[in-house]
Amino acid sequence: MTIPPPTKRLTFRDWSTTDLATFHAICSDPFVMEFVGTGEPWSLDKTQQFIDRAREMSETLGYCQWPLIHTGESKAIGFCGFIPAPDGVEIGWRLARQYWGQGLATEAARAVLKHGFETLRIQHIIATVQSSNRASLRIIKKLQMKADSSFLRYGREVLQFSLNTPQSPGQPS
Ligand SMILES: CC(C)(COP(=O)(O)OP(=O)(O)OC[C@H]1O[C@@H](n2cnc3c(N)ncnc32)[C@H](O)[C@@H]1OP(=O)(O)O)[C@@H](O)C(=O)NCCC(=O)NCCS
Repeated sequence: MTIPPPTKRLTFRDWSTTDLATFHAICSDPFVMEFVGTGEPWSLDKTQQFIDRAREMSETLGYCQWPLIHTGESKAIGFCGFIPAPDGVEIGWRLARQYWGQGLATEAARAVLKHGFETLRIQHIIATVQSSNRASLRIIKKLQMKADSSFLRYGREVLQFSLNTPQSPGQPS
């Protein structure tokens, strides 16, 4: 497995068996989970299952939603990366609430997209966002992802976006 290179403020790494407490604190926060799935905060078991699945993806697919380390604080503050999706590979992000509003998710997502296109050679990356999740919609806009469709999931409107691998200069578009 390859991992996205560090950014100015963030480092990516693989999951560790000691991550459960940190990520349970993030995923059991109702504000963090407001626009994720049903909006229910996760139990400890659900967070453990998520980590187990991420570790499995990392081994079998070569990617996952990687833990994000705030380099200045040497501490895990969330994750950003990929999961498999029916129409390609899906990018996702989630940060502890105290780190919101500093451009960190956009910084992580840009590095993950670059890694996806240039190292993993993914051709088509999608994102799905609940239509009320304004912060994520703003990130999508900054990433210049294109709107494709909308559908209902858990009774909530979800918007789907995508981005194709950038063409090299000289390649036919
Ligand atoms: C979504 C999330 C990762 C954003 O993290 P972040 O580091 O604060 O994001 P950034 O600072 O890179 O960018 C967020 C942008 O949204 C804007 N924004 C934030 N809250 C907003 C709101 N309620 N309404 C409109 N815009 C908002 C910010 O101003 C920023 O835009 P700007 O750079 O033009 O100022 C974070 O809020 C989070 O973890 N949310 C909970 C989990 C989640 O929803 N994950 C995504 C599921 S699709």
